[in-house]
Amino acid sequence: MNSMYEVTVTTGDISQANTYNKVFITLVDTDGKKSDHTWLRSKNGVASFSIGAVSTFPVSSPASLGNLLLIELDKQPNPPFPEDSWFLSQVTVKSPEGDTYNFPVYRWISDGQVHQFREARALRASEDITVTGMDWRKNDLTQRMDDYSWDVYIDGIAHCMKADSPLSLPCEVRSTFTRTIQMGYTVLKGLVELKLKGLADNQENWTHIDDIEQVFCYRFTHLSDRVQNLWRNDAFFGYQFLNGVNPMIIQSCTVLPENFPVTDDMVFPSGQCRLEDEMRKGNIFLCDYKLLDGVITNVINDKKQYLAAPLILLHRTANDTLMPIAIQLKQKPAEDNPIFLPTDSEYDWLTAKIFVRSADFNMHQLNFHLLRTHLLAEVFAVSLLRNLPMVHPLYKLLIPHTHFTLQINFLARQLLISDDGVFTKFAASGGEGMITIMRRAQSSLTYSSLCIPDDITERGLDSVPNFYYRDDGLRLWDIIHRFVQGLLGHYYKNDAEVQKDSELQSWIQEIFEHGFLSKDSAGFPRNFNTVAELVKFVTMVIFTGSCQHSAVNSGQYDYGGWMPNTPTSLQQPPPTTKGTTSKATMLQTFPDISTTVHGMSTLWLLSRQYSDFIPLGHYPNKHFTEEIPRKWIHDFQEDLKRLSDDIKARNKSLDIPYTYLDPAVVENSVAI
Ligand code: FE2
Repeated sequence: MNSMYEVTVTTGDISQANTYNKVFITLVDTDGKKSDHTWLRSKNGVASFSIGAVSTFPVSSPASLGNLLLIELDKQPNPPFPEDSWFLSQVTVKSPEGDTYNFPVYRWISDGQVHQFREARALRASEDITVTGMDWRKNDLTQRMDDYSWDVYIDGIAHCMKADSPLSLPCEVRSTFTRTIQMGYTVLKGLVELKLKGLADNQENWTHIDDIEQVFCYRFTHLSDRVQNLWRNDAFFGYQFLNGVNPMIIQSCTVLPENFPVTDDMVFPSGQCRLEDEMRKGNIFLCDYKLLDGVITNVINDKKQYLAAPLILLHRTANDTLMPIAIQLKQKPAEDNPIFLPTDSEYDWLTAKIFVRSADFNMHQLNFHLLRTHLLAEVFAVSLLRNLPMVHPLYKLLIPHTHFTLQINFLARQLLISDDGVFTKFAASGGEGMITIMRRAQSSLTYSSLCIPDDITERGLDSVPNFYYRDDGLRLWDIIHRFVQGLLGHYYKNDAEVQKDSELQSWIQEIFEHGFLSKDSAGFPRNFNTVAELVKFVTMVIFTGSCQHSAVNSGQYDYGGWMPNTPTSLQQPPPTTKGTTSKATMLQTFPDISTTVHGMSTLWLLSRQYSDFIPLGHYPNKHFTEEIPRKWIHDFQEDLKRLSDDIKARNKSLDIPYTYLDPAVVENSVAI
């Protein structure tokens, strides 16, 4: 007598997820025994697979099946309907004995092939001991190596996914259409939204600061209009090194760099302090843009551009304000490379700060934004997709943290840094300079600099007051670490289980090779020996793709929308003597009108929150169904909610709220 199973199919609740095609299923047990290959049809017809539909069908099996291990699904044309793409969320099967089996899918099915999906229980290879399970695993990994390949975009920087277009990516990672469409208009859309389209080709210089105000007035964020008022202010200039869009360059200074000969007379002219004492007390800070030294600069609209490689000294005052006290715009001390001081003329000092802000833009975008979040997140994702089967616990944990990363990076390569990309055309380092900076940035990469607790200590910033990036970032790191430790600790009971997991070891080995370019001296793991090493690395992976990216991405328009605070490029060289600057030279130094508006519109698009945004720790796709991992996810979400409440409460008392690491606005993955 046939056994009857009850199969419930959930179609995704996203645009165009439905199918009009015929859907067939076969149930497979751990011994490889199969049910009938069954057409899932009901009186509802094609409505059974409409967007968000949950539909139940009977499936019979000639023989009684044991524990279910797999489902096999295929989709066939259903004339007169054309073949279409179906986003299948999950399948649940109830056996005649009353057992329930869950099959997470969460992907598009576009072709007529048979697709196999594993039951939800997470298994390492050594636990996947049935012949059917082992066969599936082997085939899945072979297919993954075919589907995902490494590519080199620029020699000497982290590798990327080989793909012809975002739409050619394998179904497993093909995104919802929403964001692709929203992103599709890119810069042109930004120009339209900011009502700047008429200025896009205007190659004239700005002649009045009021004119910049006129174009800026169409779009404010909660912060960008404050920036417009504060951009000349020294305390605000200092504040941005801690809590602006690039909190990554500042470090404690205990010894002056040899190439930055600042004296007590320069910075404490009335003898109020001594540099040496202040350095000993931990009150002196340094920002050094040496990575930009000697970089070949762009030519924009036929005009040569300039980029400084400055050194900045900052002093923590008695009222805990970080004040810039000296700026040298080129690395090599020389007569024609003056050290600018707050006591210089208004425009000498302001011009020096403008060169710093422009240098910071170029450094921030290429090193701390593109390389250290976008490109590394892609490496973590590609290695995951190549080396870990869908049933592996680490796949289940990390796949939500890869959402849209391959697509956004493809678009970044196509639209921002390609030969006619907006960064290439309108940033001082666009073109050859960009490649030099990226290579130097890659060489400067260390494991500890990616792990915020280590990074903060190494930069000597443990006790700097009013450093909200650090405060919120460290709490987030701890919360993620606790979650990863709890969840992976459920699957890896001891170090030997980590050492023996060849799939896991392949994941880290490919990251070491393709992300860290096999650099031995920078502290990166090339394999995992202990559970603790694994937990730390996975914490870094999640933190980098979510929190760190949010910290360096979300404030781009806040701080860069008002161009004078963040010029993408400058049209005059750094002054070689004091006393030669004025309001007029400042305006000549600023980027021209077309460069300004292209910069503004790009930063606007890259700082927006999109409608399919998923906040950190939210997993609408249920890859884990077991009780213990579900509990860890629940606790993770509770911890994040508490932190979000604390950050919101703290921000109420701040003149400038620091919002970028509020878990409610941190996205799960690098997706913009
Ligand atoms: Fe980004």
